[in-house]
This record gives sequence, C-alpha cells and structure tokens, in this order.
Amino acid sequence: MDIDFDGRVAIVTGAGGGLGRTYALDLAARGAAVVVNDLGGSVDGKGGDDSAAQKVVDEITAQGGQAVPNYDSVSTPEGGENVVKTAVDAFGRVDVVINNAGILRDKSFLKLEWSDLDAVLDVHLKGAFYVSQPAFRVMKENGYGRFVFTASNATFGNFGQTNYSAAKMGLVGLSNTIAVEGARAGILSNVIMPVAKTRMTEELLGDFADYLAPEFVTPMVAYLSSEACTTTHGAYSAAGGRYARVFWALGQGWFAGQDAQPTAEDIAAHLDQIENQDGYIVPGSTTDEILALAELFKK
Ligand SMILES: NC(=O)c1ccc[n+]([C@@H]2O[C@H](COP(=O)([O-])OP(=O)(O)OC[C@H]3O[C@@H](n4cnc5c(N)ncnc54)[C@H](O)[C@@H]3O)[C@@H](O)[C@H]2O)c1
Repeated sequence: MDIDFDGRVAIVTGAGGGLGRTYALDLAARGAAVVVNDLGGSVDGKGGDDSAAQKVVDEITAQGGQAVPNYDSVSTPEGGENVVKTAVDAFGRVDVVINNAGILRDKSFLKLEWSDLDAVLDVHLKGAFYVSQPAFRVMKENGYGRFVFTASNATFGNFGQTNYSAAKMGLVGLSNTIAVEGARAGILSNVIMPVAKTRMTEELLGDFADYLAPEFVTPMVAYLSSEACTTTHGAYSAAGGRYARVFWALGQGWFAGQDAQPTAEDIAAHLDQIENQDGYIVPGSTTDEILALAELFKK
C-alpha cells in the first residue's frame, strides 16, 4: 500500500461502531497501532458498554493488526487524558487523533433543555478539546501529528439541531486554530463532514441511506490521517463516494472608504456588492483577513 501507517499510533474516539469502527479497521489494516475508544452508550448518550470497543479490537487483532480498547467517556478532562495515556502506555506515542465520538439530542430550539445542550457540547466539542490537548502535547514533542475533527452538514443549518450544529461549527474553529498553532510542529488538522448510514442516521435518511455506506467516508479520513496528507486547515464533505471541499470564505465586499461615515442606508444600497461571492478568499488564519484589509487601506 502506498499510504501506510507503519510505526504510527492512532486514537479513534467513538470507534466501537458506525464510522469510527471503519476508520479504526482501515488504519489498523494499513499498519497503525490503534486505540479504539468507545463508551458504548446509546445514540442519545445514555448508558455504557465496554463490549463495543472490545469487539472492534477483537476484529483488528483477528486480522493480525494491533489495537487496544479504551472505555472512557471523552466528555471529561480525565477521560480525555486517559484516552491519550492508553495510547502512550500501550504504544509509546500518538501520531493521529480522529475525534469522532458523538451523540444526538435533537429538539426544536424552543423545546431544547439545557441538559440537551450540555450533553451535546460535552461529547462533541469539549470532548474533542479534552482528547486533543494531551495528544497535541505529545505530538509537539515528536514534531509530527494529524488531527481529524468530525463536523457535519448540520453546520449549514438543520431543523432541530441547534445544539448539535453549534457544537459541530465549534469544532471547525478548533481545527482551524490547531492547524495554525500546529503548523511549525508538523501537526496538520482537518475536518471531515460525513454523510453515512449508521445507527445515528438510518431512520432520518430512510431509503437514501442505502447510497451512503460508511466505508465511502473512510478513505478521506485515512488520507487526512496519513503522512501523505498535504492539506491542513481544511474541511471535507464525504458522502456516498463524493468528496468535496467545504470552506468558510471572505468576499471582496464593499469598501465605503476610510473617510466615509457609512449609514444603514448605505449598507442597504450596497447589499448586492456585500453579498457578491466573486473573488472571495479562503483565509488560512485571522492574519489573512487583516492583510486583506491592510491592502485595502493602502489604496
Ligand atoms: N452518520 C452520519 O451521516 C454523520 C453525519 C454527520 C456527522 N456525523 C458524526 O460522525 C461521528 C460518528 O457518528 P456515527 O454516525 O458513526 O454514529 P454512531 O452512533 O454509530 O457512532 C458514535 C460513537 O460514539 C460513541 N460515543 C458517544 N459518546 C461517547 C463518549 N462520551 N465517549 C466515547 N465514545 C462515545 C458511541 O458509543 C458510538 O459508538 C459523530 O461525531 C457524528 O456526529 C455522522
């Protein structure tokens, strides 16, 4: 195989089923030693069962691969630390973190209870912080690392998913800033936006789910996790065999001029220009917008 993970150690959170399981299996088949993390709870994040992670470890070892289970919840700082400790204790390093663990607590905005907000932010957003910070520490020392964060097309807006879409958009910001902070240490960070048939989605997607085997998402995640990966600060939709860049861009906009005192009426009058998407840039950091502004102010 051209893209291999020989000598690499990967953590996949929520790898006891669904998408995470396919990532763990593929990376292990390509030579990675894998920490299969999973709490083994229900889709709404209740309960727990060690057998989910253990089964995937057994699948990997039966195929001659290397894997250890971890049953911690990613949703606490101690849990996150322990996931990383499991990798270091078992295999001596961490090269790849695929933040994939997730739950759903869908409710329309007015029906949302704070416990549904907390549960979703704790697993998706804070959980990714809790696993990634200790991993980043190890990667920085080694001068090498790959992060994949799992967002969703819910970031485009989806009825009943205020908590989930906010958590997922938070992960885009987290990945972008890790990409900036990790650049000098050989650490790349990207976002995957999967659409796949899993227990989380099969009811929602109905018959359409049959087009969306999770194994179609796996190659994009494996690439982003690999030494061959040349991209960072990106987000990629992967669904049913179609792979596409998703981006957060900045338009050329309308410049009123430094001497002007623009009013709300001026904004209304120039809305077409403000909305225009021609000639956008995709900033790689805050600095890119500041530089674009500095260019404008010089003119
Ligand atoms: N399937 C899709 O179409 C789709 C779309 C967009 C985003 N996603 C995201 O992809 C990821 C994987 O989802 P999936 O579709 O495979 O669903 P899934 O329910 O099969 O997998 C999620 C896994 O995370 C585990 N998990 C939940 N809370 C955990 C915790 N606190 N600590 C450790 N493990 C925990 C679960 O036990 C489960 O095995 C999730 O982040 C999900 O939000 C999926």
